[in-house]
Amino acid sequence: MKYLITGANGQLGREWVRYLSAKNADVTATTSEQLDITDSDSVTKVIDEVAPDVVINCAAYTKVDLAESDFEGALSVNRDGVKNLINACANRVIKLVHFSTDYVFSGSEEDRDVFPTGYPEDAKTDPINRYGYSKRAGEIELEKSDIDWLLIRVSWLCGSQGSNFVNTMLRLGKEHGVVSVVEDQTGSPSYTFDVVEKTDQLLKKDLNGIYHVSSSGEVSWADFAEAIFLEKGQQTTLNRITTAQFKTIAKRPSFSLLNKDKMIKKGLKALDWHEGLKRLMVEMKSS
Ligand SMILES: NC(=O)c1ccc[n+]([C@@H]2O[C@H](COP(=O)([O-])OP(=O)(O)OC[C@H]3O[C@@H](n4cnc5c(N)ncnc54)[C@H](OP(=O)(O)O)[C@@H]3O)[C@@H](O)[C@H]2O)c1
Repeated sequence: MKYLITGANGQLGREWVRYLSAKNADVTATTSEQLDITDSDSVTKVIDEVAPDVVINCAAYTKVDLAESDFEGALSVNRDGVKNLINACANRVIKLVHFSTDYVFSGSEEDRDVFPTGYPEDAKTDPINRYGYSKRAGEIELEKSDIDWLLIRVSWLCGSQGSNFVNTMLRLGKEHGVVSVVEDQTGSPSYTFDVVEKTDQLLKKDLNGIYHVSSSGEVSWADFAEAIFLEKGQQTTLNRITTAQFKTIAKRPSFSLLNKDKMIKKGLKALDWHEGLKRLMVEMKSS
């Protein structure tokens, strides 16, 4: 099996490179400088040259707040870039693996009542912000296409490298000794190692369509932060605040939970969010 990874310098891209390299897989990894997925000619050229069996697209516009003012920029990567990959994979029997987000849903309190165990894959989408809209636009391109695709929605993505909540909390805690974290937004983290392992299992079962991959359980950002400081043994004062006290440019969901039943029915076991955090902390020490 030959793999091509795009966006290989991002937190998920790096995890894929690490995972596949450890398995001595035939993998070509491209950073944004080596392959810009918004450039259709380059995408076709690289895919023709590498001739992979699977393209794993980790390239994405992920600046959630900036996407509110740079919507075209977000769409060019998250919709048009995906379309370029689809076109290049078409007629070449190449499977396209793509990643999306809980932000394709409204994340409202009303939805918490409707979906107490989280949004299932086929729940009606209603993107909460422009980044979510751009990611949904990429999903629609896949759904419209005739190629073989696997779409993994993740939430609160955290890995040992790159920018994420865990790294940010530890850094801010160290710098200031106190951090303010919202306690009225809940969800569940997706750990990059778990996302990669589970996606590989779904690939080995030759599955396609949409799957949700995040940890089991539900936690607020504030409780997640508390667990991070406890696991790390880092003295930091946690100031619990509300969404109303923490203004962001793009709206954030109060309910972010993804339902994992579809993946579980295929024989995969959801990782407990706290167990996942413990493993992440061990990995962060050694990376
Ligand atoms: N982070 C989260 O909390 C989260 C939550 C839910 C879903 N997701 C989804 O999970 C996936 C992985 O996210 P991540 O956290 O690994 O993102 P990330 O760390 O921001 O990495 C994204 C990578 O894409 C690259 N990129 C941007 N524009 C590109 C282009 N035009 N062509 C090629 N590469 C390009 C970036 O390169 P540069 O750095 O050079 O720009 C970066 O290396 C994405 O699909 C994201 O939407 C993430």
